[in-house]
Amino acid sequence: MARRRLAGARVLITGASSGIGSALALEMARAGAALILLARRQQALHAVAQAAAPLAAGVECVCGDVADADVRAAALDIARARLGGLDILVNNAAVGATGRFEQASPQRLRQIMEVNFFAPCELIRSALPLLREGLAPLIVNVSSILGHRGIPGYSEYCASKFALQGFSESLRAELASQNIDLLVVSPGTTQTDFKEHLLEKLQPDPWPQQAAVTPQYVARRIVQAMRRGNHEIVPHPRGRLLVWLNRLSPRLVDALMERFA
Ligand SMILES: NC(=O)c1ccc[n+]([C@@H]2O[C@H](COP(=O)([O-])OP(=O)(O)OC[C@H]3O[C@@H](n4cnc5c(N)ncnc54)[C@H](OP(=O)(O)O)[C@@H]3O)[C@@H](O)[C@H]2O)c1
Repeated sequence: MARRRLAGARVLITGASSGIGSALALEMARAGAALILLARRQQALHAVAQAAAPLAAGVECVCGDVADADVRAAALDIARARLGGLDILVNNAAVGATGRFEQASPQRLRQIMEVNFFAPCELIRSALPLLREGLAPLIVNVSSILGHRGIPGYSEYCASKFALQGFSESLRAELASQNIDLLVVSPGTTQTDFKEHLLEKLQPDPWPQQAAVTPQYVARRIVQAMRRGNHEIVPHPRGRLLVWLNRLSPRLVDALMERFA
């Protein structure tokens, strides 16, 4: 894909009520896309929709849990009925939790996998017939640098992002002959309320303060990657360093990680 046009593109973004998802909604609106925004917090979602509306080619909201099959179906029904189809699906909604694996409950593992892994997979499955008929169709899966390197205290979250990463690589190859592209976004530390939204905090964050990028920066990099047809981006300079160092010397990174366990 040489360059994708975003003006008029019909785009579904999950997790659009805050952080990276809301910044991306505004950036896509600036590019002239038509948006379907999905998240649970109705007021926050409507505020994003209101800000995007003057710039976008149209904005629709779906309030609900992305892990609920009926909510996912409602979003695709709106794409079909009100926008006439779907060109870009952005799987951005996710949750996390902190604390050692052995102290956490089986329910916590299931909940994180439901939202971060099963929901995007099943949304893609249901969206494929629409995407196949779309213009320059694209799936964007928002992963994390923790989908490249596991760290202590976030085992379930890391597992969900590694799963999304492997799934995305397989699917990209399977969909290539249908001209459906797949972009994986692996952010590093980003200034959002993600840590306020954790399901559970069983331990204080052991990590030193990280240099964070803004969600607007991440959104601009995602839009640039959509246009260019990139396969993966790591929109964080130190995040890229960690991914690179882990490839080069995983044992060195293992030793560093043990200090924070
Ligand atoms: N911030 C970081 O440092 C960082 C680093 C690496 C990767 N990421 C990834 O970036 C993405 C966005 O996170 P963020 O940093 O922007 O955090 P955020 O502000 O907490 O955004 C998460 C979004 O997901 C939505 N969401 C969560 N659970 C949901 C559910 N069950 N159903 C529907 N929507 C749900 C939230 O909306 P509601 O609560 O309204 O449902 C919110 O809009 C995530 O995939 C995250 O893993 C973030």
